[in-house]
Amino acid sequence: MNRASRLIRSATAAATALLLAPALAAGLNLDQPTFVDDVAPILHANCASCHQPDEIGPMSLRTYREARPWARSIARAVENRDMPPWDADPGYGPFKNDISLSDDEIAAITRWAANGAPRGEGDEPVYRKPEKEGEWTFGEPDWVFEFDPHEVAAEGPDQFLDVPIVTGFEEDRWIRAVEVQAGDRTVLHHFILWRASENSPVQEGWVGAWATGFAPQHFPPGTGRLLPKGRNLIGDFHYHPNGTAATDRTRVALWFAEPEEVERELVNLWIVNNTFHIPAGEADYRAQATHVFDQDVVIRSFTPHMHYRGKSMKYTAFLPNGEPRELLSVSRYDFNWQMAYDLAEPMRLPAGTRIEVSASFDNSPDNPHNPDPTVDVTWGADSTDEMLIGFIDYVAADSAAAKAATPAGPAGQ
Ligand code: HEC
Repeated sequence: MNRASRLIRSATAAATALLLAPALAAGLNLDQPTFVDDVAPILHANCASCHQPDEIGPMSLRTYREARPWARSIARAVENRDMPPWDADPGYGPFKNDISLSDDEIAAITRWAANGAPRGEGDEPVYRKPEKEGEWTFGEPDWVFEFDPHEVAAEGPDQFLDVPIVTGFEEDRWIRAVEVQAGDRTVLHHFILWRASENSPVQEGWVGAWATGFAPQHFPPGTGRLLPKGRNLIGDFHYHPNGTAATDRTRVALWFAEPEEVERELVNLWIVNNTFHIPAGEADYRAQATHVFDQDVVIRSFTPHMHYRGKSMKYTAFLPNGEPRELLSVSRYDFNWQMAYDLAEPMRLPAGTRIEVSASFDNSPDNPHNPDPTVDVTWGADSTDEMLIGFIDYVAADSAAAKAATPAGPAGQ
């Protein structure tokens, strides 16, 4: 066989394997699914990171004994796509951090519950925590910060805390990776690390974020986040009391790149509308924000940001010829999960592309998260105020311009 035909053959074999892969790999019995064969692998891969002792999930879902009493609520949660937390509508991306279940996985779970949640034959697969080499994911960090212990009472409303971090860096730093180690994962719901603006403890640029189940972040090779000399950081905590008093001691680690290793700044762009006015009681208030790129860019990720009244957010690109391209739609935004959507394939957009971010807010009493439906709401930093920010992480496509500027923060809009 000559080389070319061998190549064609193996390409055909690979294509066939790819076509068969989803059904085979999942190997799900959709008629008579059992815990041992079908449900346990799904729970281990998609749920147990949060649903195990000492994590934020309210119950463990590792074994048959643990999961069996929850079968109905599990079925309801996955059928409604409330769990695992992933707010993007299907059909966008693909996103490399997508943890949502496939239709088949949902069908297997709901069928299993409807059939009386059978265990099945044989040994149960055993859940194993992913092994960690050493204390930190990417080796010895260049900088570690430990926050002062924070007491979280057993009961009470969620707590939000902005803690300034004085860095004392005497040179510009290029951040190539971020890891957050939550002190107490039973109460720390999520955490955002911000770059502060110059001379004031105000959030200016998104550096990284953490929630249970979300991995430490290593930025793409050749890119980094700029922390200009002398600039501080802010730790933004959301605590969720869980019935037992707890003390949280969270740590953050950063890894720096040498300036010459960074070809392109990973810019955190804020597409902002801060002039909206949401009337009291309004169930579907709509507002937009836009941004026009003045250079060719390569988009890496999207992070919708609103507060408790935030209901949906959609990102659409209008190319210079007017052609629209839908980038992301989150029709059930949930403030509790500050999620970034990281594109599996970076997306190039030409100069002159206009991004439109359209959001809707629910300030009615029907919104169960609404702190007060009787007041008009405008822009503000408190969780009881609102925000409308469509964050985009991008790098300049042209390397000559790629490290020139940092248009971050609402002030730059
Ligand atoms: C990133 C963390 C995380 C992941 C992953 C996750 N959960 Fe949850 N889950 C939570 C948290 C936190 C709660 C409680 C608060 C809430 O509902 O948001 C919860 C609540 C639930 C509830 C409701 C419990 C009740 O009291 O009624 C069910 C059922 C559930 N999860 C099932 C699942 C299943 C099944 C999966 C995987 C397919 C999953 N979860 C994945 C964090 C997670």
